[in-house]
Amino acid sequence: MVKLMLALDVMDKNKALTMVDEISKYIDAIKIGYPLVLSSGLDIVKEIKDKTNKEVICDFKVADIPSTNEKIAKLTLNYADGIICHGFVGRDSVEAIQKIAKQYEIKTHHKKKVIMVTEMSHPGAVEFMQPIADKLAEVAKILNVDGIVAPSTRPERLTKIKKIVGNIPIISPGIGAQGGELNAVLDILGEDDYIIVGRAIYKSENPKESAYKYSMLLKGHNG
Ligand code: XMP
Repeated sequence: MVKLMLALDVMDKNKALTMVDEISKYIDAIKIGYPLVLSSGLDIVKEIKDKTNKEVICDFKVADIPSTNEKIAKLTLNYADGIICHGFVGRDSVEAIQKIAKQYEIKTHHKKKVIMVTEMSHPGAVEFMQPIADKLAEVAKILNVDGIVAPSTRPERLTKIKKIVGNIPIISPGIGAQGGELNAVLDILGEDDYIIVGRAIYKSENPKESAYKYSMLLKGHNG
């Protein structure tokens, strides 16, 4: 079954904690990015992990030289189950993060995912990212990353990228606030893949009901 990842982009620690308390039973994973970490501190990652016991992925879109990427990965993967990075900076930068993830896996016996962005979901991504996205997907396959990010806003691109990466899981943002059409996306994704939903849940009048609704739609689609 396609899984549901909540993009928890709220900027208030108490709001974030209350929200995950209410809705964690309807979601499979939680994505934490700069809005929450910069407003609440990195410790929020551990707090949410401890509170929910869900998979927690940090969307830091890491895009630096290898030695700086290593430092960011060390701090992040200490608590998070995974980290999102950019591939356009070159494979050595991604490999630096993979090296740290491996070290944690050996130490903790827990999987630490390195997830690479291919093509982003917003309109501006067609300008610079789309022309290199297929190549990035090929690099993701060569590096055997644990996941790639590809857009729900462009089902035809999602299909193409999925074809390139084969069995590498996809996490796909764009459903809800960005206008991605759920059924079209669910026809493409498979059981190891995730949709990411943020505002359509946390900004809705009733986040709990909204998360429940998405979880039911995913179940329904998978029979
Ligand atoms: P909404 O509110 O639009 O949130 O449902 C979407 C979430 O996904 C993030 N996002 C991306 N993350 N590659 C990524 O790694 C992407 O292409 C991409 N597009 C959107 C966004 O920051 C938000 O957290």
